Amino acid sequence: MAQYLLKLISKTKPAAKFSTLKFLWKDTLPLVLIVVAISLITNIFMSQPSDSNSDFVGSEKCGACHGEITASQLNSHHAHTMVRIHEITDLMNSLPIEYFDETSGTKYRLEKSNSQLPKVDLIASKGSVVEKLELLWGLGAGRKGITFVGKSEKGDFGQSRVSWYQKINKLDITTGLEKKPVDVYDALAGWMNPAETEHCLKCHMTRNTNHSPEIIKVADAGVNCERCHGPGQQHIQLMTQGQKDPSGTITSPGNLGSLEQVYFCGTCHGTPPGGADLRALDHAMAQKHSVRFPAKRLVLSRCYNESGGKLKCTTCHNVHENLSLSFDQNCLSCHSGMDSLASPCPQSTNDCVRCHMPQETGFMTHSEFADHWIRIVSPPENN
Ligand code: HEC
Ligand code: HEC
Ligand code: HEC
Ligand code: HEC
Ligand code: HEC
Ligand code: HEC
Ligand code: HEC
Repeated sequence: MAQYLLKLISKTKPAAKFSTLKFLWKDTLPLVLIVVAISLITNIFMSQPSDSNSDFVGSEKCGACHGEITASQLNSHHAHTMVRIHEITDLMNSLPIEYFDETSGTKYRLEKSNSQLPKVDLIASKGSVVEKLELLWGLGAGRKGITFVGKSEKGDFGQSRVSWYQKINKLDITTGLEKKPVDVYDALAGWMNPAETEHCLKCHMTRNTNHSPEIIKVADAGVNCERCHGPGQQHIQLMTQGQKDPSGTITSPGNLGSLEQVYFCGTCHGTPPGGADLRALDHAMAQKHSVRFPAKRLVLSRCYNESGGKLKCTTCHNVHENLSLSFDQNCLSCHSGMDSLASPCPQSTNDCVRCHMPQETGFMTHSEFADHWIRIVSPPENN
């Protein structure tokens, strides 16, 4: 990880590094503070949210000056990817929901807890054996599945063995937990030790200072401003004092070059194979499963490799909003035929993604994912 960080930092634009240092120097902060500040800045490159309490202000504060971005970001799937159960209104309105797993003979029931409303429990039963998971968080914003993280009566944390598929309003086995359970307790959840629990949540939240899922603050859950931009206190302080130039006060993945940005988003969306690591490259190409990790697949594309660093994640995605409906304009920004860089399509002038980034199924229950390895997909591969 340290080497990975060094590589990223050494690739940051020299101007950005310089202005950060100059800025800190001017304030003649003690060396200790400089180290803390740099580690906070570099922390945003790590998949583990920062542990430090200082300097994080929460997304609401950003809204005062960035109203439009904040309003749309706080409504986005990124922001809603980890929420308290009672906030999932559609789920609350659908309770109770039942499901029978034929392979193990387990009956599942999702219901409002009769003790403390509006809490929700997942009950697994077989014959007279009954086990209960008190649900704490819903992971996934509902585009596909929502998996629950909860606590058993014994005090173990686990991810529910059944997930809720909002679009079809049904429970089904959670992807990855298909293995036949040994008993009802095993059928209730994939049990996790504290390190595994923290790992499970880390890409679904802004930072984790509390470690136990029971006491995580709602403001820290979901992928919000400071997960991607780093802590905002210094930025707000200086901007409030009337400073016009934000550089050096806050970081932005928008300022990263294409490879650096692919790595940045890849901390959660799949680390791309390194250029010299042929085995990883091979693996990314051969394994259909990697389609779930856009950063792993995009770097295989000729669009990425032959456009001189012009193709980034943000070429096609405005991450403050949800997915856009059409990508033709993004493709045509290079493939219009006006640019000698990239050729136009001999087949069609629209709907590019349908043929060149087809949706793939089969590796996550009731879900499909667009293949970010942009290419001429031959019909047999398309199956
Ligand atoms: C007091 C007003 C104010 C607040 C509050 C504020 N900003 Fe800013 N921010 C600015 C101004 C002014 C700029 C420079 C002009 C622009 O890009 O809009 C800026 C620019 C930025 C940029 C672009 C940086 C760059 O290098 O291009 C980012 C990212 C950013 N702000 C993030 C945030 C985040 C995240 C928060 C909340 C933690 C926040 N801002 C809160 C005033 C503010
Ligand atoms: C390395 C980062 C990472 C970790 C660790 C991680 N997730 Fe995710 N998760 C993602 C990303 C990125 C997505 C969106 C794309 C996707 O579905 O793969 C996602 C999506 C989901 C979804 C919604 C499905 C969808 O695509 O809409 C659920 C449910 C989910 N994760 C549950 C979990 C659970 C439970 C754990 C822990 C056992 C976990 N995740 C660990 C990154 C992560
Ligand atoms: C998932 C990562 C992510 C999150 C979460 C995020 N941003 Fe950004 N932000 C980006 C990226 C990437 C860019 C560069 C956009 C581009 O180049 O198209 C950016 C650019 C910006 C900019 C400067 C450019 C502009 O569009 O004006 C501001 C200001 C900003 N973000 C504020 C915020 C605020 C406020 C929040 C929270 C409400 C937030 N961001 C949440 C990734 C993120
Ligand atoms: C902290 C982890 C994390 C980081 C960093 C991150 N994402 Fe995500 N992203 C997620 C998760 C989790 C989801 C799934 C949201 C959900 O539950 O539907 C997601 C969803 C998305 C989606 C689908 C949005 C939709 O409408 O459903 C896009 C596109 C995306 N991310 C792009 C990016 C890009 C581009 C970057 C880098 C600028 C980035 N993400 C950085 C975790 C992350
Ligand atoms: C930043 C510029 C850029 C963008 C944006 C871009 N491409 Fe490309 N693409 C290229 C370059 C450069 C090549 C290689 C030269 C050529 O074939 O024209 C290429 C090649 C291709 C190829 C041929 C692949 C092969 O294996 O022979 C297809 C198909 C393609 N792009 C489709 C798309 C689609 C669809 C989109 C939008 C989703 C897109 N491109 C977006 C630059 C881009
Ligand atoms: C109906 C499916 C379909 C759609 C829609 C489509 N393409 Fe294609 N495209 C193909 C096929 C098949 C080929 C390869 C066969 C050929 O060259 O005629 C191809 C070839 C290409 C190539 C390689 C051209 C070359 O000279 O090497 C590029 C680049 C490309 N498409 C980009 C796009 C873009 C951009 C769009 C949207 C404006 C698009 N395609 C829409 C099917 C499609
Ligand atoms: C050339 C355009 C393009 C680029 C570049 C691009 N994407 Fe996408 N992305 C798409 C399209 C098209 C979709 C599918 C949209 C849909 O399902 O309607 C998509 C979907 C996604 C999704 C949702 C997954 C799904 O299928 O449900 C995530 C997450 C995502 N992209 C992340 C990224 C990340 C991270 C990067 C950079 C490594 C990136 N994208 C680069 C075009 C692009």
